[in-house]
Amino acid sequence: MASFNLMVLPGDGIGPEVTAEAVKVLGAVEKRFGHEFALKEDLFGGAAIDAYGTSARQETLDAAKRADAVLFGAVGGPKWDDPSGSPERRPEWGLLQIRKQLGLFANLRPVKIHPLMADSSTIKREVLDGTDMVVIRELTGGLYFGEPKRRWSDGDGRKAVDTMFYSEEEVRRILQVGFDLARQRRKKLTSVDKMNVLETGRLWREIAVEMGRQHPDIELDHLLVDACAMHLIRRPADFDVIVTENTFGDILTDEASMLAGSMGMLPSASLGARRPDGTGLGLYEPIHGSAPDIAGQGKANPLAAILSAAMLLRLSLGLTAEADAVERAVDEALAAGWRTADIARPGEQVVDTTRMGDEIAGRLA
Ligand code: IPM
Ligand code: MN
Repeated sequence: MASFNLMVLPGDGIGPEVTAEAVKVLGAVEKRFGHEFALKEDLFGGAAIDAYGTSARQETLDAAKRADAVLFGAVGGPKWDDPSGSPERRPEWGLLQIRKQLGLFANLRPVKIHPLMADSSTIKREVLDGTDMVVIRELTGGLYFGEPKRRWSDGDGRKAVDTMFYSEEEVRRILQVGFDLARQRRKKLTSVDKMNVLETGRLWREIAVEMGRQHPDIELDHLLVDACAMHLIRRPADFDVIVTENTFGDILTDEASMLAGSMGMLPSASLGARRPDGTGLGLYEPIHGSAPDIAGQGKANPLAAILSAAMLLRLSLGLTAEADAVERAVDEALAAGWRTADIARPGEQVVDTTRMGDEIAGRLA
């Protein structure tokens, strides 16, 4: 029996609907295993802009820092898409703030093809067979945060600059996450860069090669990011752990998610420094966005949010058996034929968001 403080930030669009189901499942875990999860919920993203004029209040960020983990929904929507507004009035700004201020430099996006789901992908089943990878995306550096970052106008018209900056320490610590994770898995690490063009890419490659020599038990290979984009859909089952910088990881993980058919199944974890036992603060969110087109209709698939809660149990709270139980409950519900609209094949019976959540929670009782 242990007690933990969790911050819950449902956000916008389908964020609140899917997060409610993840909270329901955490409640079932509490009961079954006798833990206590103290939840603190707050507005974030567009919802916070409407209420407070900023997508992330500093007090929200401070409370998140003090929590054991953050359960996150999704942010954004057409209502807040004005590109000329001030940065804190953009939902995405809040997300970048929470990543940066909590020091969550490592974003883990597992892509595992559930055998029952292989036919919902646009990629052929024989190509997908055996696909089970984790993409590690650097999350607090690169183009997203480098300075200068600004817009201006002069006699030649409008101009803008973003900066891709990486220090040795930033590259080293994210590559280390890659080597450590590969060691717990199939011991294959693919480091992705653009060393044929970018200085940051050459620094990245140099450090990866050096670290590879210090990790002889890991089979390390290197891919240019454009080639990686191709190999991801040509031979996805060959990948074990992929590690790459922020922008490349953003793009490659959207691509990789399509291997799984629906984004509605894929969780993610954003992690900072770890304690010696491997646990530490993290933010857990489904990789799908806020999907404003289906918000409020009970159509959203809560499994990505529920599987994110499982990652939270494992990676921030160290509750391995509990995380396994949640993942097993999801497998069992799928095996029993429960489907939300995004993963149903023609003729299959479709259930809504809350019913899917009930099915998972019920299996934990
Ligand atoms: C993601 C999203 C975010 C990103 C946006 C919403 C800022 O696309 O988590 O991948 O670009 O990092
Ligand atoms: Mn993205």
